[in-house]
Amino acid sequence: MELRGRWALVTGAAKRVGRATALELAACGMNVVVHYHTSAEEAAATVRELEVLGVRACALAADLGRTSDVARLAADAERHSGGLTVLVNNASNYLRVPFEQLTEAAWDASLDTNLKAPFLLAWHIGRGMRARGGGHIVNLADWAGERPYRDYLPYCVSKAGMIGLTRALAKELAPEVQVNAVAPGPVMPPEGMPAAEREAIARAIPLRRLGTPEDVARCVRFLVAEAVFSTGSIFYVDGGRLIA
Ligand SMILES: NC(=O)c1ccc[n+]([C@@H]2O[C@H](COP(=O)([O-])OP(=O)(O)OC[C@H]3O[C@@H](n4cnc5c(N)ncnc54)[C@H](OP(=O)(O)O)[C@@H]3O)[C@@H](O)[C@H]2O)c1
Repeated sequence: MELRGRWALVTGAAKRVGRATALELAACGMNVVVHYHTSAEEAAATVRELEVLGVRACALAADLGRTSDVARLAADAERHSGGLTVLVNNASNYLRVPFEQLTEAAWDASLDTNLKAPFLLAWHIGRGMRARGGGHIVNLADWAGERPYRDYLPYCVSKAGMIGLTRALAKELAPEVQVNAVAPGPVMPPEGMPAAEREAIARAIPLRRLGTPEDVARCVRFLVAEAVFSTGSIFYVDGGRLIA
């Protein structure tokens, strides 16, 4: 599929992995809807960076924890673009809550934003893609969706759900729409993590380093630009963390 001049919606694209993904898709000539929640200034900066690359871009705000916002984002992105070709479900929260302190609210906050919103976006937009005869959905999962770690139970379950969602959507939307997931390992620890902790994380990775946002973004680009015979697949970009 020729991507040049087509539109992608990347959620959580103001910074970090989402921003790198938006820039990588723009390098293929794609126009980008930059979704953000609280990072308005960073989103505007990402839009300017995209425009410097010669593509069109706009920023749309939405709280993906609110169903009404999700539906509005899908409708606005479809209208603004004239029909999206690519949806990247990247936005996510990362709530650390020790097991004994878990609450229903923490569960809902994780599952609503990290799993229900990606489902709703895919449901709204995927049917449009199918009617137009083609498209790609890429979901950002996590190696922890396969091997959960402690203190992040709702997050890990939400990412396990992303893996299941990817496979189920791929079946529903075939043959017109390809749906795949990228499951990163540690690429960008939360801001402010002590250096010693980062080094310990790197030592646990067979490739002995953390990944970069660009490592993940290149895999997303590969999926939409080159992986013509893949759907319902999970691509690990984790330095081997899953098999360690
Ligand atoms: N970083 C890693 O090492 C790593 C490892 C494995 C998997 N992943 C996955 O890869 C993806 C990108 O990672 P990342 O570290 O770049 O993500 P991140 O910085 O933690 O979050 C990306 C964006 O999600 C948005 N977001 C959070 N809650 C939201 C809400 N309620 N409504 C709308 N947007 C919301 C935020 O937008 P605003 O800033 O605009 O509020 C944030 O900038 C995520 O799905 C993550 O789970 C990352």
